[in-house]
Amino acid sequence: MTKTTAYKNSRLRMEDVELASVAEKFGTPLYCYSAGQIEQNFDAYRRALKSVTDDFTICYATKANSNIAVLSLLQKRGAGADIVSGGELRRALAAGISPRKIVYSGVGKSDEEITFAIKTGIMQINVESEPELEAISRIAKKLKKTVDVSIRINPNVDAKTHAKITTGKKENKFGIDIEFAPALYKRALKLPNINAVGVAVHIGSQLTSLAPYKRAYARVADLVRILRKQGNNITRVDLGGGIGITYRNETPIDLYLYALMVRDVILPLGVHIVVEPGRSIVGDAGVLLSRVVSVKKGHNKNFLILDAAMNDLMRPALYGAYHAVLPLNKGGKPTLYDIVGPVCETGDTLHIDEKLPQLKAGDLVAIMTAGAYGAVMSSNYNTRPLAGEAIVQGKKFGLARKPQTVDDLVKNDVIPGWLA
Ligand code: LLP
Repeated sequence: MTKTTAYKNSRLRMEDVELASVAEKFGTPLYCYSAGQIEQNFDAYRRALKSVTDDFTICYATKANSNIAVLSLLQKRGAGADIVSGGELRRALAAGISPRKIVYSGVGKSDEEITFAIKTGIMQINVESEPELEAISRIAKKLKKTVDVSIRINPNVDAKTHAKITTGKKENKFGIDIEFAPALYKRALKLPNINAVGVAVHIGSQLTSLAPYKRAYARVADLVRILRKQGNNITRVDLGGGIGITYRNETPIDLYLYALMVRDVILPLGVHIVVEPGRSIVGDAGVLLSRVVSVKKGHNKNFLILDAAMNDLMRPALYGAYHAVLPLNKGGKPTLYDIVGPVCETGDTLHIDEKLPQLKAGDLVAIMTAGAYGAVMSSNYNTRPLAGEAIVQGKKFGLARKPQTVDDLVKNDVIPGWLA
């Protein structure tokens, strides 16, 4: 539970709205986000950084939740965006985010995407390889524009997080090995139409310890000193995202301690700071609402079968991630359940032997902490339409994305004439 999602009179509410009324109005499965919680999370991040510097941009990592209503809420708070595709750039612009606050990360940018980003005039492109640096220079020259770039370095630091979301070790596909970086920055000095103004780093996601950050940032600071000596005018450092949140019992990093570490390690360089938080802004602001389809007695087991599945929320199947399940109506005697979805895979399991108040078909539950990497990672597996998304603010609530229909899915399939 969070400040904005909690029980009142045994009914689970988000801000001033009973979640059951949102589920009844728009149907399930349905993602639902608290505008107030997103704002609080963003403000907490900003306050912490402001306690040590005024010279920073918070580029929200759009990939965590790219719903345009969410982006527009953050834009009004002054957020920029960290994007990883032309599609995310379209969304950020549609939400009114200023191009001057958009940074573009990602290991495989196409020429079309680079062209779109340059034409839009974004703040910087975070370069992941030498061929990409050359492509940006070539495209920028053709467009008669000069582009600011940061080079994303791989500091070879273990973020001590889940193997599938660690990015800063030598063997990961991300960034340029820190040892090769000076040579690449020298090359950048010679290439036309680019200014290598920054160094970028992102070592992983769902970090719960400050130590790996400190190690990585210290390596970045050393590199900046080397680069300046060799003639690169480094004015920005992009510190990435990755701050973890509480799914079960994790203790998140104190943002003020993070800011103090940044002050000690990075600020002496006199650079503009960019940060790219995603999960810590939206993760605990969202739930996935679901209805119990049936309760099935197995061999020594009660299966609680929900109408939300692994295609809606992939994290448990993909990372073994924990997401608490809460009934929208509290009460009933504690019962042990295996909580599963309807998809035809054993992996479509949220919990084994989880204690919940007794539930029956038709009851509603909330799958908690689903605001980050939930809706954005969903798929149409088993020809299941993508769930809708709703947003709550105070007493108000509304749809932020219409639920897909089966018609939406079926209409794009074609039988080639020769096969018919
Ligand atoms: N910057 C870059 C370059 C990134 O690759 C990421 C996340 C972020 C920022 C934002 O990280 P955050 O603050 O959200 O941790 N699907 C996985 C997480 C993948 C993260 C990918 N990169 C999950 O559900 O846990």
